[in-house]
Amino acid sequence: MLRVVILISGQGSNLRAFLDSCAEGTIPATVVAVGADVDVSGLDHARHYDIPTFVEPLESGGDRDAWGTRLGDRIAEFTPDLVILSGFQRLVPPAFVRRFAPMLLNTHPAYLPEFPGAHAVRDAVEAGVTETGATVIVVDNGVDTGPILAQRRVSLIDGDTESTVHERIKIVERELLADVVRDLADRETAIEEN
Ligand code: GRF
Repeated sequence: MLRVVILISGQGSNLRAFLDSCAEGTIPATVVAVGADVDVSGLDHARHYDIPTFVEPLESGGDRDAWGTRLGDRIAEFTPDLVILSGFQRLVPPAFVRRFAPMLLNTHPAYLPEFPGAHAVRDAVEAGVTETGATVIVVDNGVDTGPILAQRRVSLIDGDTESTVHERIKIVERELLADVVRDLADRETAIEEN
């Protein structure tokens, strides 16, 4: 079973879906901790499953590298095999990426490299495109520029708002992330058995 730490910054609906799947046994992983940069409602999903939580704030104007080290130390306490950014709205510093990548994933609500950044769904709707998507990447030092592990298209339909599109995208994000984690768990098992 992969030991997973998940970082969030918001409501954590994707986190909850991941936790439910782990509890149902459809994802071969154990979430050993959930962290956030602010004390957000999404942490309640971890508390629902009695999973340890932590908050590591980045003070406005604070030293991002020092914060990255503190955040990394909190995560390392749980000896994860994999770290997942799930709606985590902070850019992690290079030392953090070096510390955890390539077992450091992010889900993004667009078909990268289309619409990178923090407003991907709004940007797609405003661009008037007929389709966007969801992507799972390995985090690198760029903004949503890391190696793509999985992605799938999501169509926009007449009358769609940012919110209605984003909810459909999140469903695909959850499926893609589950598939990627299953694949990583299978590989870990294969490595351990050889
Ligand atoms: C997800 O679409 C994620 O890709 C993006 O923010 C959203 C988080 O949603 N970065 P939630 O907090 O899991 O509901």
